[in-house]
Amino acid sequence: MKHILAPSILTADFANLRRDIEMINDSDADWFHVDVMDGVFVPNISFGFPVIRAAKKYAKKPFDVHLMIVNPEKYIEEFASAGADGITVHFEACTHLHRVVQQIKAAGCKAGVAINPHTPVVLLKDILHELDLVLVMSVNPGFGGQAFIPQTYSKIKELRQLANQVNPSLIIEVDGGVNIGNIAELIQAGANALVVGNAIFAAENPSQMISDLKNIPVNSQTI
Ligand code: DX5
Ligand code: ZN
Repeated sequence: MKHILAPSILTADFANLRRDIEMINDSDADWFHVDVMDGVFVPNISFGFPVIRAAKKYAKKPFDVHLMIVNPEKYIEEFASAGADGITVHFEACTHLHRVVQQIKAAGCKAGVAINPHTPVVLLKDILHELDLVLVMSVNPGFGGQAFIPQTYSKIKELRQLANQVNPSLIIEVDGGVNIGNIAELIQAGANALVVGNAIFAAENPSQMISDLKNIPVNSQTI
């Protein structure tokens, strides 16, 4: 199956958000990646419920909401009602991760867990069978446009091996510094959902870049 391409609206032009949403609607992209930052879990603040609700009015593809916030359990139901189709919380932000995952599912959303670059994949072993998605951060979360951390390749391979045993349909999503130069290798390593922000919105023709990222040829043999 072809990989899922999820443009991050963090790098969109917020003064022209409707225009950028419609560009994504009309493109080969699969999801909208929606980055929520609280200024506590990460050193940046992005946007919250009013912006998500406004964007949802025009978006015609699922919302993949990435919560870079502390205490995400306080807001799961509100993100679901604002339009989230999937909600991903950070492993590092949840003391009772299992409970939060059940809460996301009970709210009717796909459940994801994100791991920061320093967090070993093996720490997800006892939660993996409960998850729809694992998001492997390939930069330190907080900002768009950062450089990709190469250690991500081995993390994806290790995670795919682990998932093959307990949850073969797990979606492995990679987020941060993904571009036309590394996307094929990430898919070969075992990723099947790719978040792309800067490489799309800084491109001369964002819609064409989405098409190139979606239709990139990939050697089917996993590395
Ligand atoms: C980073 C965010 C990412 C970011 C990706 O904290 O989680 O989703 O927007 O953007 P690029 O592709 O610019 O690294
Ligand atoms: Zn993200």
